[in-house]
Amino acid sequence: MIDNIQRIREEARIRISSIEDLEELDRLRVHYLGKKGLITTILHQLKNLEDEKRRELGATINKAKDELESEISLRKNELRKLQIERELEKSQPIDVTLPGSVPLEAGSLHPITRVTHQMVNCLKRIGFSVVSGPEVELEYYNFEALNTPEHHPARDLQDTFYINKPVLLRSHTSPVQIRTMKSKQPPLQVLAVGKVYRSDYDVTHTPMFHQMEGLMVDHDISLADLKGLLGYFIKNIFGARPLRFRPSYFPFVEPGAEVDMQCVLCKGNGRECRMCSSTGWLEICGCGMVHPNVFKAVNYDPDRYTGLAFGMGIERIAMLKYGIEDLRSFFENDYRMLEQF
Ligand code: PHE
Repeated sequence: MIDNIQRIREEARIRISSIEDLEELDRLRVHYLGKKGLITTILHQLKNLEDEKRRELGATINKAKDELESEISLRKNELRKLQIERELEKSQPIDVTLPGSVPLEAGSLHPITRVTHQMVNCLKRIGFSVVSGPEVELEYYNFEALNTPEHHPARDLQDTFYINKPVLLRSHTSPVQIRTMKSKQPPLQVLAVGKVYRSDYDVTHTPMFHQMEGLMVDHDISLADLKGLLGYFIKNIFGARPLRFRPSYFPFVEPGAEVDMQCVLCKGNGRECRMCSSTGWLEICGCGMVHPNVFKAVNYDPDRYTGLAFGMGIERIAMLKYGIEDLRSFFENDYRMLEQF
């Protein structure tokens, strides 16, 4: 019987190694190892044998069975690989350098990023460089050093997100003025750009928005420089337009002004214009000459130096430039809106 098994085993081994076809291999598996296969049948016959004989033969047969199983699966893998290779040989080679059939969607810059780049680049051309400061700021930089002490009524307008007094989210980019002046000596010509926070939410206000702030300090900076500078800026961003400087109050400048630009929609005639609420003017910026108290706070001598400062909302500029009516649409991440830029 052992001889018989060895013979079957040998014969199977030769047949397996010479088989060239997956289906044939499977038929061979059934022939030997299937329910009625040769090996299975012999295993069934074992039960008629005596104990000792059965143990001896059982071990041999099981070993043969295991070996056959693993040989079959090895051959199966070989044949599969061969099959894939043959198919690859038959098919056309792939040119991976050909352009794809589905065009790739190109991303684009967010409108706020775009406008920021334009605004900053325009001022870089006349000598400004960009500085930055933290969004999580101290009350001292956001208010006190900017001539806005604790109980000053001007704080109400911007008294906003406190993390833990005296730590707050900056309500404007002006604290960067203080940080810059504390670390550098005049002459200075810097821009601070970034996010600011206020607790407002409606069509023209969001709790987070962006500002760009400019600061210039030297021996002889004057209001004429401020006017010339903003005229140049507006001409660059919107084209030549009349501007008006309206006296206004910010604690950290004196004198202070708000700058209005002639309405881009009604061209200043103001007739039933929803863009400028029929006033003919669009407010774009706060500005003024640096207050002597601010210079004192940073240890600059107010008798030696003068300075100009201006600050504007970037969203506001983008809305006017692109005719966007709802400020909130910048932050809703609606592709239909963003794709247009
Ligand atoms: N920081 C002021 C604001 O956010 C704007 C401003 C900046 C005004 C610089 C004057 C000078 O309202």
